[in-house]
Amino acid sequence: MRAVPPPGPPRLDERRRVADRLGRPLRNLRLSVTDRCNLRCQYCMPEEEYVWLPREDLLHFEEMSRLVDAFTGCGVDKVRLTGGEPLLRRDLPTLVSLLAAKPALRDLAMTTNGILLSDHAKALKQAGLHRVTVSLDTLQPDRFKALTRQNALDAVLSGIRAARDAFGRLKLDAVVIRGVNDDEIVSLLDFARSANAELRYIEYMDVGGATHWSMDKVVSRTEILDQIARACGPVEPVVEESSAPADRFRLRDGTAFGIISSTTDPFCRSCDRSRVTADGMWYLCLYASAGIDLRRPLRDGRALAEIGALIESVWQARTDRGAETRLTLRDRRPFVPVSALRANPHLEMHTRGG
Ligand code: GTP
Ligand code: 5AD
Ligand code: SF4
Repeated sequence: MRAVPPPGPPRLDERRRVADRLGRPLRNLRLSVTDRCNLRCQYCMPEEEYVWLPREDLLHFEEMSRLVDAFTGCGVDKVRLTGGEPLLRRDLPTLVSLLAAKPALRDLAMTTNGILLSDHAKALKQAGLHRVTVSLDTLQPDRFKALTRQNALDAVLSGIRAARDAFGRLKLDAVVIRGVNDDEIVSLLDFARSANAELRYIEYMDVGGATHWSMDKVVSRTEILDQIARACGPVEPVVEESSAPADRFRLRDGTAFGIISSTTDPFCRSCDRSRVTADGMWYLCLYASAGIDLRRPLRDGRALAEIGALIESVWQARTDRGAETRLTLRDRRPFVPVSALRANPHLEMHTRGG
């Protein structure tokens, strides 16, 4: 009789390397831990009211941990915790320690708006989180309030300091919007340098949630680079092999920064990422209109191998190139109308984890 292998996560040498129809591996998982947020950023949550995921549908930490085991069995080795705002999920360090204990994960990161970070940075580091990225779109308190509907810039800046103290380095993400913060491109870079952080400029995207988006508000990578070169001198591209969304650049003084040009020059051809919402729906693309329900098999008590086989077969059929497809449109408007977002909160960027 053949020995039955013990249940549990696959060992490193048992992991399958799964590729989609365009040859893209499955390596990068964005795991949203809550759809709630304590800011209302214009580019992400501009409406007055939102429809939230039902609380009873939210995955427990043990369920998330099991799901991550199923994904690492298919080749995932990077997990990023996202929200909404992930620090609104109580006891997040408990989830971090469950995930940090998995040898298959070589990168465990989190994207946060930073408001609660000064309270939690140390505990997150101690629990085993590797890296933190903080969203920071402006250094002006009034503008911060106009952009997010909260007077919370000071809290974010303390969060950034706490992250630097706990982790040494961090990343800062700034969405650049014409007429809103495009006059802060250089000052944000100066700030990042002083905070021991690498700044990434993000082109304003027409994702679900960005109901006020229009092409004329997008500040392109070319414009961002021009502004920086005019103020700071020559900018050199950093040549590196990477599937990360940011193209990296360096100034003569060594300051490095990134630009994520998902709107004018998307990275779909090398996209190895997918996202799981806080209620266990799996989306193969930021622009996907439908997801795959992984909560059901999880709660039905399906074996890890069975969930892994489902993930594998879905990924193998993947052809998504959402941002590239958007680029081919002549008349480009917000991706999803407000009425459709109300009917299906899974289409929201804040539900999909930014
Ligand atoms: P690193 O591993 O540090 O490179 O992280 P990251 O850049 O993947 O994570 P982060 O949360 O900082 O993402 C930065 C921004 O890139 C997001 O907020 C989005 O604007 C954009 N982005 C992230 N994932 C995707 C994606 O799957 N597709 C597209 N088109 N844009 C994405
Ligand atoms: N365009 C670009 N990035 C966005 N994010 C959310 N909405 C948009 C958008 N419309 C990203 C930002 C933010 C993170 C939480 O999600 O990077 O910092
Ligand atoms: Fe990946 Fe879709 Fe984003 Fe393109 S648009 S990079 S395929 S998630």
